[in-house]
Amino acid sequence: VQAPDLAGRHVVVSAGGTREPLDPVRYLGNRSSGKQGYALARTAAARGARVTLIEANTGMADPAGVDVVHVSTAVQLREAVLKAAPDADVVVMAAAVADFRPAVYAEGKIKKRDGQEPAPIALVRNPDILAEISAARAHPGQLVVGFAAETDDVLANGREKLRRKGCDLLVVNEVGERRTFGSEENEAVVLAADGTETPVPYGPKEGLADTVWDLVAARLG
Ligand code: PMT
Repeated sequence: VQAPDLAGRHVVVSAGGTREPLDPVRYLGNRSSGKQGYALARTAAARGARVTLIEANTGMADPAGVDVVHVSTAVQLREAVLKAAPDADVVVMAAAVADFRPAVYAEGKIKKRDGQEPAPIALVRNPDILAEISAARAHPGQLVVGFAAETDDVLANGREKLRRKGCDLLVVNEVGERRTFGSEENEAVVLAADGTETPVPYGPKEGLADTVWDLVAARLG
C-alpha cells in the first residue's frame, strides 16, 4: 500500500496530445495516447493528492477521484494550466504539445483542385507552456516537472532542454512510431535542476509515475 505522502497537496497533470486544426475536418497532431499522464494522475491520487488532470484528445474515461478538464489545442491547454496553476503545489507537463499551429484556420473544408499543386501550410509558434510556468511560478516553492520526448541524443538533448525550460525535474524518454507512444511501458531518466539523474528501467508507466512522485515528495519536504 502506497504511503499518502501527497496528502494535502494539489497536483496538476497534463496528458495527451494537442490537435491544431487546419479546417473543420483536419488537424496537425501527434501520437500521444495520454497513458503516461493518466498513470501520473492515478498514482498521485493513490498517494493522497488532490489531482487536476488536463487532458487533450485521449478519448480515455475520467479516472475516479480526479478533476478532469478537457481541452484540444495548445492554446486551450495553456489557458487550463494557467487557471489551475495558482493553487497547485506541483504542475507536471506530460502532454505532447504542438510547437506550431497552422497560421490560418479555413472555415470550410480545404478543397483539392484538379491540376493544382497543394498549397503550403504556413505555421506560427504556439506558446511554450512549460517555460512560461517555470519562469513565473504561481508561488515560491511550487514545483514544475516537464517531459522531453526525444528520438536521438536523448540525454544530451534532455539536459539542454532542462536548462532552457527552467523546470525543476525533466523526465527524458525516447519516442518513436512504436516506442513509448501508446504503449503500457516506458523507460526514462529523470533529470533534476540540482544535477541528480535518476534512471528508471523499462516497466509499466505507473512505475515511472511513482518515481516522479517520490522525487517530488522529497522536494516538497
Ligand atoms: O501519452 P503516451 O502515449 O503515454 O506517451 C507519453 C509521452 C511520450 C507523450 C510523454 O512521456 C512525454 O514525453 N510527453 C512530453 C511530450 C513533448 O511534448 O515533449 P517535448 O520534448 O516536445 O516538450 C518538452 C516539454 O515542454 C513537455 O513537458 C511539453 O509538455 C512542454 N511543452 C512543449 C511545447 C510547448 N509549446 N509547450 C509546452 O509546454
